[in-house]
Amino acid sequence: MNEQAPVITIDGPAGAGKGTIACMLAEKLGWRMLDSGAIYRVAALAALRRHLDLQDEDALAAIIPSLHIEFRDGEAWLDGAVVTSEIRNETCASATSKIAAFPAVRTVLLELQRSFQQLPGLVADGRDMGTVVFPRANHKFFLTASAEIRAERRLKQLSEQGLSAKLCDLIQDINARDERDANRPVAPLKPAEDAVLIDTSYLDQNEVFAAVLHHIV
Ligand code: DC
Repeated sequence: MNEQAPVITIDGPAGAGKGTIACMLAEKLGWRMLDSGAIYRVAALAALRRHLDLQDEDALAAIIPSLHIEFRDGEAWLDGAVVTSEIRNETCASATSKIAAFPAVRTVLLELQRSFQQLPGLVADGRDMGTVVFPRANHKFFLTASAEIRAERRLKQLSEQGLSAKLCDLIQDINARDERDANRPVAPLKPAEDAVLIDTSYLDQNEVFAAVLHHIV
């Protein structure tokens, strides 16, 4: 961690378009990028592979320090093996949301997330980047979109991967996940008081990106 390095945080629920905007911004600025959701996903995958009880907070938190989580060459790595696509499946997404609700899990992952703060700067994408992980970030954004729009975006993504799903099931999943993420006792999904809110429901990527840049420059 280098406290001199500037940080821009982009938080919000799944499907609000944070990941794309964070990548576009990191690329434009030439900064590093932290996809904190991917860190939680890799930790959840490790728990699934070890057949841990997803309700056992202590056991989940205990394995995390022994994991070797890395992001390099555009891939996510767990203990030396690429897990990029595996962490994106629905089983892993659902397990991730469960383990992310535990304070002990969140605490052990703090240091790893903060280690991404390096010069020339960091764009951090997640749920609590502006509230908990980088409360002193230089700029904070919170992206939202309606559950229906986010479900439609997810459906499109799945069909591009040759996978099918029902829109109503996706809306239900998204609502359940939002509910869990918003009501957990630690780091609930909410905008930082000093975050700029952007509703992306009826904006395309370029319009969202322009809105973000407008606040930075
Ligand atoms: O952004 P994502 O869909 O990859 O996140 C996966 C899960 O991890 C989601 O349930 C929310 C959780 N998460 C979190 O609790 N805190 C973060 N900073 C990032 C993700």
